[in-house]
Amino acid sequence: MAMIISASTDFREAARRRLPPFLFHYLDGGAYAEHTLRANIEDLGHIRLRQRVLRDVSAISMQTQLLGDACNLPLALAPIGLGGMFARRGETQVARAARKAGIPYIVSTVSLCPLEEIVAASQGGDIWFQLYVLKDRGFMKAMLERALALGVSKLVFTVDMPAPGARYRDRHSGMSGDGAGLRRIWQAIRKPGWAFDVGLMGQPHDLGNVSAYLGRHISLEDYIGWLGENFDPSVDWKDLEWIRSFWPGKMIIKGILDKEDALDAVRFGADGIVVSNHGGRQLDSVPSSAYALPDIAEAVDRRLVVLADSGVRTGLDVLKLLALGAQGVLLGRAYIYALAAGGGGGVTHLLDLIERELRTAMTLSGVTALADVTPDMLVWR
Ligand code: FNR
Repeated sequence: MAMIISASTDFREAARRRLPPFLFHYLDGGAYAEHTLRANIEDLGHIRLRQRVLRDVSAISMQTQLLGDACNLPLALAPIGLGGMFARRGETQVARAARKAGIPYIVSTVSLCPLEEIVAASQGGDIWFQLYVLKDRGFMKAMLERALALGVSKLVFTVDMPAPGARYRDRHSGMSGDGAGLRRIWQAIRKPGWAFDVGLMGQPHDLGNVSAYLGRHISLEDYIGWLGENFDPSVDWKDLEWIRSFWPGKMIIKGILDKEDALDAVRFGADGIVVSNHGGRQLDSVPSSAYALPDIAEAVDRRLVVLADSGVRTGLDVLKLLALGAQGVLLGRAYIYALAAGGGGGVTHLLDLIERELRTAMTLSGVTALADVTPDMLVWR
């Protein structure tokens, strides 16, 4: 990379320069007035860590297990719909970077590259699959059969999106809606040097996981239109029971922010949950994950694995969510900024930075293993 990036937040600025505005705002934005989007970051900033000294911190271990898989870091890459737009065949570049770092990559239902291509690119890396409930239940079933055939054994079922949140940046740019707005964008954005494959627009392609299902090539505009029509507000626990009737792998429910829902997930027998507000993109004014996490972790009391995301930008943020009760943390926007800034190499660079930040934060807080990262590390006053 030509530019020198010394903090993960620098990637955001690099992404802003390299992306057409509609795509930067699709990534960067949140719902309504973006209160929760800001709170995710600000609340993490307000968490205070104890500084412990003289505890022999010469050997730090960040190794862990997430849902039974060995990971080099307590991290996974979150599902990002259309994430592949941010670099050429972007999801394949992310899959390679995740494997290099030794962490799982959770592929979105609405990836730009088909799941088969991503799994092949990962060359044995740890790929999990994220599913939304869509009106087209045939698609869901076919998709899970494809995932199983590829050896994917972890399903992340996202439940905080019975309908998309009101994201005004997308409404202004034309990114949301039926695809007509995208057609207008496409006319306007033909600028060389952008981190976006303009060839994606206008032309039908073998796009995402939907082309193979529909049995035809589709354009990006049609893909987004198909998605917009397919979110299903009728989703409830019965849909999860239905999935479990034919999904033999692990089930992780993503988008839990309330203790009562977390307890329902325990009763359902989920293997894990992701405490998340979707990065502030759904209901604005819900609490940040940092705020909601301690109550949820206490209520479920290790009866399932608690993962968390929303607002994580640094290794220090990772440590804070772990100390608040998560066993693993998902990176969302952070790695897509890096992908836009520098492709797969940018993601590797970011993950190196996060690893170093986490190592330094553990060293300076006097803990040498993740098992010792507990609420006891925090100053509560
Ligand atoms: C998302 N997120 C998301 N979640 C999911 O389960 N399926 C998806 O397809 C998407 N798509 C998506 C697109 C974009 C552009 C963003 C920013 C987010 C939510 C994502 O997995 C994660 O929960 C948040 O990104 C976490 O917040 P931060 O780290 O981005 O602040």
